[in-house]
Parts: sequence; C-alpha cells; structure tokens
Amino acid sequence: MSLSLTAVILAAGQGKRMKSAYPKILHRLGGRMLLEFVIDAALMLDSQKIHVVYGHGGEQIMAAFPDRAQDSVSHTTSHINWVPQTLQLGTGHAVEQAMAHIPDDVLVLVLYGDVPLIKPVMLTEVVSKVGEHSIGLVTVRLPDPSGYGRIVRDDQGCVFGIVEEKDASDAERGITEVNTGIMAVPASRLRGWLSLLTQDNAQGEFYLTDIIGFAVREGIAVETVMPESIEEVLGVNDRIQLAELERYHQREQVRALMATGVTVRDPARLDIRGDVTAGQDVTIDVNVILEGKVVIGDGVTIGPNTIIRDTEIGDGTQIQANCVLEEAVVGKDCRIGPFARLRPQARLADRAHIGNFVEIKKSHVGEGSKVNHLTYIGDAEIGRDVNVGAGTVTCNYDGVNKHRTEIRDAVFIGSGTMLVAPVTIGAGGTIGAGSTITKDTPPDKLTVERSRQVTMRGWRRSTR
Ligand code: UD1
Ligand code: CA
Repeated sequence: MSLSLTAVILAAGQGKRMKSAYPKILHRLGGRMLLEFVIDAALMLDSQKIHVVYGHGGEQIMAAFPDRAQDSVSHTTSHINWVPQTLQLGTGHAVEQAMAHIPDDVLVLVLYGDVPLIKPVMLTEVVSKVGEHSIGLVTVRLPDPSGYGRIVRDDQGCVFGIVEEKDASDAERGITEVNTGIMAVPASRLRGWLSLLTQDNAQGEFYLTDIIGFAVREGIAVETVMPESIEEVLGVNDRIQLAELERYHQREQVRALMATGVTVRDPARLDIRGDVTAGQDVTIDVNVILEGKVVIGDGVTIGPNTIIRDTEIGDGTQIQANCVLEEAVVGKDCRIGPFARLRPQARLADRAHIGNFVEIKKSHVGEGSKVNHLTYIGDAEIGRDVNVGAGTVTCNYDGVNKHRTEIRDAVFIGSGTMLVAPVTIGAGGTIGAGSTITKDTPPDKLTVERSRQVTMRGWRRSTR
C-alpha cells in the first residue's frame, strides 16, 4: 500500500528502574541519546511526520532537543510533533494521544523511545507487510521471554493475539515468541481499534497489544517480521541493559570500521561515540575513544589511551600514547605525543611535531615546525620551520582579555621563554633561553632578555 508513513514513538514511561533524575530516553548510548536513535531511524525511513509521545521530564526533553522543539506552544517543528501524555494509562492510550494529530490516509509505524538499535531493514520489512488485509508486527524469540507479551498463534501458525505476561496462563507463559511492540498499521484501522480498548486486564491499562486480537477477528492477517539479531529490538529498562546494548553497539561499529580497512588492536577496547571515517591502513591501539565527527586519513597510527573528539587527522600522521585531541585539524605526517593535548581550534600544518606535555589552543602551527616539550601555545600563529624550545609559554591572558602571539617562519625560541602577548617574533629570529619577551623582536637577530649571571666571590655558605 502506498500510504505515506507516520512514526509514533512511545516515550512517556518514567523508566523507574534507571533510578535517574533524567527521563530514560535522554540517557546515552554510543554518545547519542536513546531517543535520537529512534528519531533518526524514523527519519531514515522517510517518515513524513514523527510524533513523540512524552510524559515524564517534558521540559528536560525539550531542552535536549532544542532544534527539534522550536515552537513550545504547539510543540511542532517540520518533522516532530511532541505529544504530551499526562497520565501513563498504557501503550494503547499513548498511541491514542498521537492519533488526534494523525489523518486517516497514512500508515502508522509504532516505535519505542527506549529501543534504540532498530535497523532500517527490519523497519522497511514490517512496513511492507501492510496491505488491504494485513498489518505488520515485529516479534522475536527470546531464550528468556519473561516480562514480555507473548505471541499466541493458532493451529495454522497464524497470529491470533498477544497476551501480556501478567494476564497469561502457564501454557502461554511457555511461549518464547514475544512482542517487540513495533508494528505498522493503517491509521484508519488503528483509530477504530484503539476506540475499542478497555482497561479490563491485570494491569488496568489500555493495552496497544489488544488491537492484534481485534484485527484477527476482523479477518486482518498479522504478518510478523523478525530482526536479524535480538539486540535490534531490546529495550533499555535499567543501567545494566544500557551497558549491555552499549557493548553490542560498540562491537558493531568497530567491526564496521575494521571492514573498511582499519586495524584495531583490540575491538573491545575502542569506543566510538559519533561518526568516524578512516582511510586505508590506519592502526588504532588499545583504550582509544573517538567522539563526535572524527576524520582519519590513510596510514594514520593512533597510540594507546588516546581520546579524539571532532578532529581531522591527515595522512601518515602518528599519534603516540596518551594524547587528547579536541576540535583540532591536523595535517599530514605530523607527530603528536606522547602526552600531548590539542584543544579547540588547534591547527597543525603538515609535518608539525607536538611533543610531550605540550598544550596547543586556538593556534596554528606551520609546516615542519616543532613544539616538542613542556609548552603552552595559546592564541598563536606559528610560521613554518619554527623550533619552540622546552618550557615555552605564550602568556596570552592578562586576566581579562586574550592576546595573540605571532612567531614568524624559521624562528628559534630558546627554552624557558615567556612570550607576553600581544607580541611578534620576527622571521628567522632567535630568542635566548630564559627570556621574557614583552616587545616585538626583529627578524634574523638574537634577542635575549635575561639578567646577567653573577658569581659572588668570597661568599661562604653558613655553617652551624
Ligand atoms: C510492552 C508490550 C509487550 C511487549 C513489551 C516490549 C503492551 C501492553 N505491552 O510491555 O507486549 O512485549 O512492551 O518491550 O503494549 N509507554 C508510554 N505510555 C504509557 C505506557 C508506556 O509512552 O502509558 C511507553 C514506554 O515509555 C515504553 C513503551 O511504551 O517506551 C513500552 O512501555 P512498557 O511499560 O515498557 O511496556 P511493557 O509493559 O514492557
Ligand atoms: Ca519495557
């Protein structure tokens, strides 16, 4: 059937077992909120409209999705309609809240806000099951089905209904095929069936699952679809399940990365919390975290215990152990670390070297320049082939304002130098070790700011 698709995401549950001050759907998996996964899956399917039924923590949710909740009066944006469900009277009641905003001529896909790892293949399939005389339902076989609604089939193996665990007979509890909650139903039929729901059951709730029985009674077939792996339909109810899904998700992502030609020393010790693209023959050592948007060129090696966030790394660059890179852009064939820190807006040109205990912030380091030991570079522009000696500090902050330092091409800065910004070091200049430079220095000259060394003749250390 060629009805346009509307997704209804159920997310009003409190998530008591999370023992959290935040709504469950705002908890993160792979760096993204659970609800983001579900919204993105719905968007990928080309849902014309997405209705999120929320209850607990509405304000926190709106704050967490600012661009998706611009109009706080109507709760409407181009794609997402935020539907409040003040009292959580059950899954059927939740869907009904959204139906007030849904026309008859669409196909409704019901998703859960706490089931994050749903895949497009499965969702496309369940949607494709909907026809003149059929609806689609995602089910799964679980070794331990306890807690779930059971799928009851007739002698021919056709779905006959869903019975919730609390309402199930002993025999029904033995059924291992369970309801995932994900279903695709034409809005017109759904509306009718929802109006028939009652609270006449063990939990006193309006069960969405009861519509399955209504459908069968009207001669509508319930076509089931199973996911490729169980994890795709597992929900998060507590922090243990959150951690389990996190591990599964990480394994999947790391496998995908390895499939593109990346060597990962231990797939269990790489976490990806964002989007990573990597070239050929990249090697990643153990205990690495990649966050946000990370772009890694060909032949890059990343040493152990390194965190890289929203950063671009050019071909052939080596990042040694224990580095932290954040919002940086690194050229080709650079050498970074061990123990280096690149902060936001650090930009390294090709072949730059940043050594141990060096911090670079909002600065450009030119081609082939070296900053190898114990140094702070902030708000600076460093030219090419510069050598910054150990223990150099750009004194960029006067307590109120930040000031810039310019170090032109081929400068040599001796160790232990303070560059009090704003200041410019002329091209080819040399700064003697231990200088505190407060005025611009000329090109190609030696500048030293240092009190003379004296030795006291006739001095004796006191004795007892
Ligand atoms: C539901 C199904 C069960 C299925 C299981 C899969 C019903 C009656 N039962 O059971 O067959 O095996 O999910 O996990 O549908 N929600 C609301 N408003 C409400 C109630 C729930 O938005 O009033 C949301 C929850 O936030 C959650 C989802 O609906 O995302 C499922 O609710 P939950 O209470 O977990 O349902 P179960 O009893 O586990
Ligand atoms: Ca549940």
